[in-house]
Amino acid sequence: MTGGRAQDGVSIAAVRRTVAMRFRDAGLDTPDLDARLIVGHALGLDHAGLARESERALGRRALAGIDALAARRLAGEPVARILGVKEFWGMAFAVTPAVLVPRPETETVVETALARLDAAGARERPLRIADLGTGSGAILLALLHELPQAFGIGTDCSMAAVETARENARRLGFTKRAAFAACDFGAALAGGFDVVVTNPPYIASAEIATLSREVRDFDPVAALDGGADGLAAYRAIVTDAGRLLAPGAFLVMEVGAGQADAVSALADAAGFAAIAATPDLAGTPRVVSARYP
Ligand SMILES: C[S@@+](CC[C@H](N)C(=O)[O-])C[C@H]1O[C@@H](n2cnc3c(N)ncnc32)[C@H](O)[C@@H]1O
Repeated sequence: MTGGRAQDGVSIAAVRRTVAMRFRDAGLDTPDLDARLIVGHALGLDHAGLARESERALGRRALAGIDALAARRLAGEPVARILGVKEFWGMAFAVTPAVLVPRPETETVVETALARLDAAGARERPLRIADLGTGSGAILLALLHELPQAFGIGTDCSMAAVETARENARRLGFTKRAAFAACDFGAALAGGFDVVVTNPPYIASAEIATLSREVRDFDPVAALDGGADGLAAYRAIVTDAGRLLAPGAFLVMEVGAGQADAVSALADAAGFAAIAATPDLAGTPRVVSARYP
């Protein structure tokens, strides 16, 4: 081993151990998992393939490929960006530099929207859904997966994000039920939606510099920056939501830690009813949902 790197002729299992050790030494949170995913990606092997071929010896070229990807991870690039894919709601989403890597806590938006629809006995209807700030399309496409009669439109201010979402819709088989538009939140949409979902940018501008390098240096700033107090997008969305929603329809918004009360107050002031905060799996109030009116 030279400088912590694996030498020509070593086995896949040994390379995984070496990469994991380098990640551990660098203080990464999940060194073994990251090593497995990166080595597997470099070799075109899934979990089972890595296990099956663990004793296969690797040549110089394969080792150089693994080394290049490991260096990116050591420079702070998240595994999902290196792989170009992230699982959300059990589906594989392509991730490009233009979009946020979908986060597990955002599944709470999907769960809350479904719970609201179930409580209203509306799940089987031909629902119309709008996803404002759709990014990879994760929330919208997860909802369409659960609601086979529904049609949805996702918007984003980034044309490149819209293209990524459209490509995810195509790959996941939702082309006929999903449309996308580049615009300011709901600006290009007419009314009549049964559900408006959103995970808007909600980090206060001054806090962006304090985020982990994985987020600060790799997620697009348009996906993070929520203005001076982090609430700018909610003000715009809540103000416009009444125009977008059908009577009795739902607004479901992801919020940052500590923002649920302020966002609930915005919804209250805009005339929404049945306002509720839903915690994520860590117990943090993560989603504010409400009925209009
Ligand atoms: C936090 S990301 C969420 C992405 C995706 N919905 C998810 O949950 O993974 C916020 C998204 O809103 C988009 N965005 C920011 N400001 C916007 C605006 N004024 N109008 C439309 N989209 C906006 C960003 O480009 C980004 O894709």
